[in-house]
Amino acid sequence: MLIGGASFASVVRPEASLADEAAKPYPQYGLQDQFKLSDYEDMRDDKERTLKYELAIKRRLEMTSQKLTVLDLGTGAFALLAIQAARAGAKKVYAVEREAWAAQAARQAVADAGLEDTIVVIEGDSTSVKLPEKVDLIVSEIIGNTATGEGVVDIIRDARKRFLKECESKIICDARKRFSGAKMIPARCKTLVAPISYRYHKLKGSQREFRLDSMTKDLLFLSKPQVLENFEFEEPQKIKGVKASDLTENAKLLFPVPAQIAEQGGEFSGFAFWNRIELDEDNVIEVKGKPSHWPFVVLLTEEQPKPIPVGAQIELISDVDVSAGKFGSYKFKGELVA
Ligand SMILES: C[S@@+](CC[C@H](N)C(=O)[O-])C[C@H]1O[C@@H](n2cnc3c(N)ncnc32)[C@H](O)[C@@H]1O
Repeated sequence: MLIGGASFASVVRPEASLADEAAKPYPQYGLQDQFKLSDYEDMRDDKERTLKYELAIKRRLEMTSQKLTVLDLGTGAFALLAIQAARAGAKKVYAVEREAWAAQAARQAVADAGLEDTIVVIEGDSTSVKLPEKVDLIVSEIIGNTATGEGVVDIIRDARKRFLKECESKIICDARKRFSGAKMIPARCKTLVAPISYRYHKLKGSQREFRLDSMTKDLLFLSKPQVLENFEFEEPQKIKGVKASDLTENAKLLFPVPAQIAEQGGEFSGFAFWNRIELDEDNVIEVKGKPSHWPFVVLLTEEQPKPIPVGAQIELISDVDVSAGKFGSYKFKGELVA
């Protein structure tokens, strides 16, 4: 039984949700599209992220005696992953960056590291540049505040098709995957979601999405998280939660609320969304409850906090089209059901 519902709250582009707690107007597209130097510094200084990438890249490059050719897709101002790959023994690294100033800064970073013989910085959008040769491994970090929010699906599909060395046959390909390691880092990225009660909901009272620090104490999680999206880099045709054919999904997730939460007066505000990035089987970047430059994206689907009757469940209805427009379209509706 439907207890109450909100109209669809639209998150046109979750990763651009820069409305902070001071409630700035909802930004139009643009910020994460053009990173500032301080954004690259925040990413570099995100210890968990940078160290785990380094470990995963090293692990992969040391897995085979053969020296690998690598593409760092979206190398950023510090050519961070490209330098990690070169230091881990890559034969050649092509570091592609679409922002002209960042590509120039990346060239300087490569020179400062003394790696100009190994790393070639190429300025341009990966979907339109050409590489001098095909590569064995693609590393990237083009993951927004939610898994698909920076256009990773279309970018990776294109990059795999045009830049990866082809296998002689499926058997060789499968064997290579098993014995010689992956061709993609990360292996997959997920958007997790859970219903929440937000401490300052009454003050905020709006449906607009905003970001909260990954360590915030202002959210009470009303149920265990579930996977909203799972994008597999090795098999980019498969994306759980989003239909492969048109990348559009009207999915429903049902969250049971423990009786204790309802009995203690827990109230439903909306949903929190966050990333889990699985670089390889050993190196997984968790965002929830860890220091991270990635935040929670919070969407208040209710105008005001809503009391949760004992035994009620919370339903999330999502209408997602990751390929809509430039940045995809993300719309969500929450409902309390008995
Ligand atoms: C989140 S930053 C990561 C930077 C760096 N790889 C790191 O890990 O610190 C993503 C970078 O990818 C670039 N980028 C995103 N899509 C791209 C594309 N299709 N082609 C080239 N660069 C792209 C952005 O301009 C940005 O510099």
